[in-house]
Amino acid sequence: MKDIMTAPFVREMCATAANMYRLGWDERNGGNISYMLDEKEVKEYLDIDNVIRDIPLMGVNEVDFDITPLIGKYFIVTGTGKYFKNVEGDPETNLGIVRIGKDGKHIELLWGFKDGGRPTSEFPAHMMSHMARLKVDPENRVVIHSHPTNTLAMNFVHELDEKKFTHTLWEMCTECIVVFPEGVGILPWMLCGTSEIGKATAKKMEEFRLVVWAMHGIYGAGKTLDETFGLIETVEKAAQIYMLICNRPRVNTIKDEDMVKLVELFGVKYRKDFLDL
Ligand code: 13P
Ligand code: ZN
Repeated sequence: MKDIMTAPFVREMCATAANMYRLGWDERNGGNISYMLDEKEVKEYLDIDNVIRDIPLMGVNEVDFDITPLIGKYFIVTGTGKYFKNVEGDPETNLGIVRIGKDGKHIELLWGFKDGGRPTSEFPAHMMSHMARLKVDPENRVVIHSHPTNTLAMNFVHELDEKKFTHTLWEMCTECIVVFPEGVGILPWMLCGTSEIGKATAKKMEEFRLVVWAMHGIYGAGKTLDETFGLIETVEKAAQIYMLICNRPRVNTIKDEDMVKLVELFGVKYRKDFLDL
């Protein structure tokens, strides 16, 4: 059995959490990450028959929420209340590797959460988002939630309309429309950690890989940690530029016709109705 500390998925989770903390996106325990793993790769590092602890799935026991598509799936996930700044130094306390139990009502801890911890309180929203994205993209593996500073700041001064918000972001950096051509979904302020916000996020995830939780943060989904991190990073960069310029007169702008040239050059499908042509 190989040393779990050397596993690429543990190293990558550490690096991602460290980068998110370094960029100021994840104060204290803000934010959470879940990354679906293949049984084959987990088996190289762990005895998958050795369940350390069963953990009930809080918040997802409702009759109208069915987690069965994920039964038997493995995830490495950040712990609730755990500080992103501490993940890299002590992954075994701040991260856990879990398997969704056979009844779909509990999870089996295979590694981590050494101090008795449990997965993020946003686990329902993560699992529902995974299910929604897997239907659209069977290669989806990652869901990240974060509190990026400028994206949040923009929520307080910009209209929270998906078309208008996306359009403003697309206008801020030339490559935005190529990176997230489907745009950004937006949910109104809602109570976090609940099945309701999980369901609403998953519904948006059928259409978008990025969902803003108004005045709270953002959700991103993708095939890899890099791709998902990069999506949030690109929104945050655009939001930063917006916050730098929003109270100054606009002299120049990237025109909608120019954005069309970009998407045509890169051959990406985009939300035409989010442009004003
Ligand atoms: P957790 O500490 O439970 O992951 O919650 C952090 C957070 O960002 C809630 O939205
Ligand atoms: Zn949050």
